[in-house]
Amino acid sequence: MSFKGFREDFLWGGATAANQLEGAYNEGGKGLTLADISPGGKQRMNLMFSGDMPLEIDESKYVYPNHKGIDYYHRYKEDIAMFAEMGFKTFRMSISWARIFPNGNDTVANEEGLAFYDSVIDELLKHNIEPTITISHYETPLHLVKEYGGWKNKELISFFEKYARTILERFGKKVTYWMTFNEINTGLMNNFFSTAMQKPTEEEIYQGLHNQFVASSLATKIAREVNPNIQMGCMSVYATMYAYDSDPVNVQATQEKNRMFNYFCNDLQVRGEYPSYALAYFDRKGINVDMTEEELAVIRENTVDYMSFSYYMSAAMSVNPAHQDEKSQGNFFGGVKNPFLKASDWGWEIDPIGLRIALNDLYGRYGVPLYISENGLGAVDTPDENYVINDDYRIDYLEQHISEMKKAVMLDGVDLMAYTPWGCIDLVSASTGEMSKRYGFIYVDLDDNGNGDMSRHKKKSFDWYKEVISTNGEEIK
Ligand code: BG6
Repeated sequence: MSFKGFREDFLWGGATAANQLEGAYNEGGKGLTLADISPGGKQRMNLMFSGDMPLEIDESKYVYPNHKGIDYYHRYKEDIAMFAEMGFKTFRMSISWARIFPNGNDTVANEEGLAFYDSVIDELLKHNIEPTITISHYETPLHLVKEYGGWKNKELISFFEKYARTILERFGKKVTYWMTFNEINTGLMNNFFSTAMQKPTEEEIYQGLHNQFVASSLATKIAREVNPNIQMGCMSVYATMYAYDSDPVNVQATQEKNRMFNYFCNDLQVRGEYPSYALAYFDRKGINVDMTEEELAVIRENTVDYMSFSYYMSAAMSVNPAHQDEKSQGNFFGGVKNPFLKASDWGWEIDPIGLRIALNDLYGRYGVPLYISENGLGAVDTPDENYVINDDYRIDYLEQHISEMKKAVMLDGVDLMAYTPWGCIDLVSASTGEMSKRYGFIYVDLDDNGNGDMSRHKKKSFDWYKEVISTNGEEIK
């Protein structure tokens, strides 16, 4: 830890998820996942949130951008070489459960899937890039949803445990940084991607999360048996919460929202205990989560080494009906419109200072190293005929956020270990399935309907980020 600037060993890099970039959805023995049956386009979010997502592929009706992703499955060597050129110290990737166990609960692991990730990891290590692996990023195998009803079913704990053991035993000697579930707290509102359930009751929502806490702790336990040097993290989406005004009613409502949204899952995974506000809530609402003494002991004894979070926006809260006319948006949540902030083209409010507040809040509460595992601007990029893309808006966004990170480290004493902006190479959007919502330093020639030659091109931000990394952020004011 240093108050002079970012740590010497600071992990600069980029973040992705298997289902959003690999493509090859039915190659190499892979089974189907929830991402494979989620169509692109406007209906995607509605289907996810209504609980009416059809559990079959219907190509006569929909397009499925995740099916070919950006074809990373076949082009990863070219892409990793570009990450290396930018000087990445780490690359956050996920493993697709269904590449290893096509149905999620097969007796024998699929060697072709394991071999694929072996070769991706070796390619990264060859370029001195440390992988950071998310074990589950929004892609529960479809079979586990159809046959078992998703994460509300405790049987998924042992299926996940076997999957986690398989990949940790295979890759745990050469990969130090791991995370269990991506944005685990989105299970509170995006039940489809997160806990793989449709139309759950509130009790099932908390049961699904409880089962994931147990599964996550078991993975942490296995990781330590395999290699005591492994650093295991949890991962949540964090939105800095502001009361819309100083009306105590709004301040109290904000505190309540903050607890369940920003703290609940981290309290379980970092502190290892159900917080009393959650138990009081269950009691008040008559929610009975089936939790055994043995499960609670597993959660208590296997807390994480570091805490990671995605940060895209803050949210203003008000219970006053007069403030409800204009809402802010996010991928899975929003607040009321904050008059002090501008929003991205997708309505996500941009708030770099909110990131400094987040870092202080989380470090003050948990005292473990923090890893910003996602951040970035989804924007439309328009290349000229030579693929020149002057994405100053993206540079501006990232520069402002890194500047606030630096203040949190140097002025506030926060121990920050890593920064991996989301979608370092353009990929399929999780919420909308669009390609046109781009985050990358690397442009991929592909549109929302699958047209394009998928060639890769450096944007202006590519060289900018390369400079940030090579100077360890020193030039950022
Ligand atoms: C996070 C997810 O919520 O936000 C990613 O972990 C996702 O999977 C990212 O892609 C950005 O959201 P979107 O909807 O713009 O792709």
